[in-house]
Amino acid sequence: MSQSVQGYTHNGPVGCSLPFDTKNLNGKTAIVTGGANGLGEGYVRALVAEGVNVCIADLNEEKGKKLEAELKGTKYIQCNTAIWEDQAHLFHEAVSFSPTGKIHYVVANAGIHRPDEVFLYSGDDQEPQKPDLSTIDVNIQGTLYTAKLASHYFIKQNGQKPSPQQEDTCLVLIGSGAAFLDCPRAPQYCASKWAMRGIMHSLRRTAFYYGSRVNIISPWYVKTNILSEEAFAHVSSLGVVLATVEDAGQCLLRILSDTGINGHSIFVSGRKWAAQGYMDLDLEDYAGSPLIQEIQEDQVKSAPAELGLFV
Ligand SMILES: NC(=O)c1ccc[n+]([C@@H]2O[C@H](COP(=O)([O-])OP(=O)(O)OC[C@H]3O[C@@H](n4cnc5c(N)ncnc54)[C@H](O)[C@@H]3O)[C@@H](O)[C@H]2O)c1
Repeated sequence: MSQSVQGYTHNGPVGCSLPFDTKNLNGKTAIVTGGANGLGEGYVRALVAEGVNVCIADLNEEKGKKLEAELKGTKYIQCNTAIWEDQAHLFHEAVSFSPTGKIHYVVANAGIHRPDEVFLYSGDDQEPQKPDLSTIDVNIQGTLYTAKLASHYFIKQNGQKPSPQQEDTCLVLIGSGAAFLDCPRAPQYCASKWAMRGIMHSLRRTAFYYGSRVNIISPWYVKTNILSEEAFAHVSSLGVVLATVEDAGQCLLRILSDTGINGHSIFVSGRKWAAQGYMDLDLEDYAGSPLIQEIQEDQVKSAPAELGLFV
């Protein structure tokens, strides 16, 4: 099935309230990193419900194996996404697992949130210590490994020239409210989630060469293990309405089922702000600013996407 994306053009926000048809997903193969728990588990369940074969890549063997045993059409592969060899092994295993030998969708979901040592003060009498940057290792470095491997396999499957024979493929990165909002006291986590937009903005212009697309899902607060029970209770006690794992799963299906969606960030907002629980805030373009559009044109003048994939 050919896909309709040709290069990148901004046609306004995705109509998230429109009905969508998931029939193209049946029989495809996906990888979900961090798929054994929380939002990742939600993406796995949503995909399996549509007949997608899913590789669950996660550090947590116990949860991953339990999910594999429960859900037909899944395979658990132990993987630390911050380690290149683990991810290279994951993609090899996914090709063997796939009934078609192809990988169609990759959801780079594995991510962590920890106390931010870049922000913390060492004390008046202390020398500052080298901060722990493991949030960057997992959330950015790990995602870049996933993006590298996803595009490698997509190119291997589809070649480097657009053609009607190319089968739709899609890389989905996971942002956050922290990818576009001010979140005090968390510079590492915010940097890691803004970084997803940087990766997407770069890849969205050339992905069509290999029959592919790249998009972001940015969840609002969703009760998972990423924060403590107490932290979520505190947030809820302030009247903040949380989003849900199920709406995030539907958001993923919306993106994957519509081959015209490329280069968008969809905010999983909860029902307070959107009837479906997710919406396109249209943050990734500057439709209202002819000046920024002109600057963007100059930015790509020396290496326009039309020159080819690798120039
Ligand atoms: N829950 C939220 O409120 C929220 C909001 C915005 C964005 N997110 C993002 O959603 C993603 C999933 O978060 P969650 O809330 O489901 O968290 P979670 O902690 O409940 O689940 C994360 C899963 O990823 C796995 N994992 C962690 N590090 C890994 C690594 N290096 N390699 C492989 N697996 C690893 C864990 O074992 C776990 O199964 C993250 O990228 C997170 O930043 C979450």
